[in-house]
Amino acid sequence: MTTPLLQIIILLILSLLLQSLASKSATPTRIQLPHPPRTALSVTDFGAIGDGIHYDTEAIQSTINSCPTSPPIKTCHVSFPPGIYLTATIHLKSNVVLNIQEGATLLGGTKLEDYPKEFNRWYVVLAENVRDVGITGGGVVDGQGLKFVKRFDERKNVMVSWNSTGACLGDECRPRLVGFIGCTNVKVWNVMLSEPAYWCLHIVQCRNTYIYDVSIYGDFNSPNNDGIDIEDSNNTLITRCHINTGDDAICPKTYTGPLYNLTVTDCWIRTKSSAIKLGSASWFEFKGLVFDNISIVDSHRGLGLQIRDGGNVSDVTFSNINISTRYYDPSWWGRAEPIYVTTCPRHSCSKEGSISNLQFINITAKSENGVFLSGSKGGLLSNLRFINMNLTYSRWTDYTGGLVDYRPGCQGLVNHSAAGIIMEHIEGFEIENVNMRWSDYQNELWDNPLDFRPSTVNNISLRNFHSALYKQMK
Ligand SMILES: *[C@@H]1O[C@H](CO)[C@@H](O)[C@H](O)[C@H]1NC(C)=O
Ligand SMILES: *[C@@H]1O[C@H](CO)[C@@H](O)[C@H](O)[C@H]1NC(C)=O
Ligand SMILES: *[C@@H]1O[C@H](CO)[C@@H](O)[C@H](O)[C@H]1NC(C)=O
Ligand SMILES: *[C@@H]1O[C@H](CO)[C@@H](O)[C@H](O)[C@H]1NC(C)=O
Ligand SMILES: *[C@@H]1O[C@H](CO)[C@@H](O)[C@H](O)[C@H]1NC(C)=O
Ligand SMILES: *[C@@H]1O[C@H](CO)[C@@H](O)[C@H](O)[C@H]1NC(C)=O
Ligand SMILES: *[C@@H]1O[C@H](CO)[C@@H](O)[C@H](O)[C@H]1NC(C)=O
Ligand SMILES: *[C@@H]1O[C@H](CO)[C@@H](O)[C@H](O)[C@H]1NC(C)=O
Ligand SMILES: *[C@@H]1O[C@H](CO)[C@@H](O)[C@H](O)[C@H]1NC(C)=O
Ligand SMILES: *[C@@H]1O[C@H](CO)[C@@H](O)[C@H](O)[C@H]1NC(C)=O
Repeated sequence: MTTPLLQIIILLILSLLLQSLASKSATPTRIQLPHPPRTALSVTDFGAIGDGIHYDTEAIQSTINSCPTSPPIKTCHVSFPPGIYLTATIHLKSNVVLNIQEGATLLGGTKLEDYPKEFNRWYVVLAENVRDVGITGGGVVDGQGLKFVKRFDERKNVMVSWNSTGACLGDECRPRLVGFIGCTNVKVWNVMLSEPAYWCLHIVQCRNTYIYDVSIYGDFNSPNNDGIDIEDSNNTLITRCHINTGDDAICPKTYTGPLYNLTVTDCWIRTKSSAIKLGSASWFEFKGLVFDNISIVDSHRGLGLQIRDGGNVSDVTFSNINISTRYYDPSWWGRAEPIYVTTCPRHSCSKEGSISNLQFINITAKSENGVFLSGSKGGLLSNLRFINMNLTYSRWTDYTGGLVDYRPGCQGLVNHSAAGIIMEHIEGFEIENVNMRWSDYQNELWDNPLDFRPSTVNNISLRNFHSALYKQMK
């Protein structure tokens, strides 16, 4: 398989080779150490108790601050032996890696005074404008998200909001779990991130981020429990992650600048929202995104583009992906679409971004609703390809269908009978080797494999496209 990952690995090896050749010819006598020199400090040597009751904030922060900063030390591991370390926000320095060992939990505080004044710094672990930082060790970072539930509700929990303080408005005023802001060379690996009160892992304006073997768990009924949010960042690689959470699992956004080169491979995802979602914050460009070998299970939406603010999207590939999507309570965005591509103005004065060069290859989906592809008048959807896809439609929950979902903003929820693929405002769409199967057991009418508004859809080609009924066991 010539997957994009393989290409990246080949490129990496090539560049390493070139680098080593270059350094050899430039400094032939230099001795190369096999590993960068590193040091390790244990938080218990700085007074951390690890009983889960007393705050260890000061001990942890002094350990980090005691890390040597001068060469030859390159990396300083701050170790957490088994234990539960209750903490307020801790700040990472350059060259520091938190090594939370197996059996150790870094437990975020649940009080407002545990976090800095500014809402945009409310994280349990925060790295700001530093480089060569990371988290690893086999242990857990836990945000105690359930303590932020005001009222449990299977449809959607009602959450605490610290909005009365004025630091933040609305109902989303809760701390995030881990944040890297303006960082270079970030590595998060072999760690579990659990129960965030709000978003889980937040990558903002970073360069070169590598996230692998990370497991993320958020409560399935809590809103805003996003998995990984990647904002305005370049060159991000996410691989072998396991994400089981309430809100969007992998969510690239653009607020203040573009997002280039995001690759996500070999992940497993379950969410009550979108498994993968570009947007909805979409003020700048998204370009060069690859999603490969991903399993999406029991989610409200599979692969989603929710472009609302005028940023343009181009060169995005989704390949080798299995999807199962179903309806959940309609208070969550999503209508069980395996694929959802929309661009429309959020408000009447918002700009319309365009989406072009979007490919879906080797996709298998079993879903309670069809595919929704919707450009808009000023935000065309162009050069779309569906290649090797098996789409199976049936119903197994009792939620009513028959709505298309333009939220947030735009036209909101609109009555529209279900169809295999609904299309509007599209220019250039190739469909090749695509099979649709329809269950004969229906509590709503499926009567249309391809539903398009002819005056807004141009240049569709169908090659080896099939659509057929099948018997659903009941
Ligand atoms: C799609 O699947 C086929 C058969 O498994 C494989 O040969 C091909 O490389 C895949 N394409 C991509 C882009 O991964
Ligand atoms: C504060 O948050 C609550 C939800 O917890 C919400 O109902 C309320 O509208 C918010 N108030 C303001 C002023 O944003
Ligand atoms: C990402 O790359 C673009 C294009 O080079 C650049 O404008 C932007 O500032 C970069 N972002 C970051 C966070 O470095
Ligand atoms: C994105 O990746 C391409 C291809 O590897 C590279 O040429 C480009 O410089 C990268 N963009 C940024 C902003 O780093
Ligand atoms: C796909 O990802 C799974 C992990 O989710 C991994 O076990 C498997 O080896 C990957 N397959 C390929 C072809 O890389
Ligand atoms: C998708 O399902 C097929 C058939 O069950 C399996 O062979 C393939 O490995 C799965 N791929 C992923 C990415 O889960
Ligand atoms: C999106 O593309 C259009 C047309 O090329 C351009 O006018 C607009 O400035 C772009 N938007 C952004 C946010 O770059
Ligand atoms: C779709 O189903 C056909 C027939 O069962 C199978 O040959 C093909 O490999 C499947 N394609 C994908 C992408 O799963
Ligand atoms: C959608 O349909 C429902 C029931 O079929 C009806 O009550 C409702 O008024 C319709 N909404 C719109 C916006 O047409
Ligand atoms: C139709 O779309 C394809 C890509 O989907 C493109 O290569 C081709 O040039 C388009 N044809 C016309 C007449 O626009």
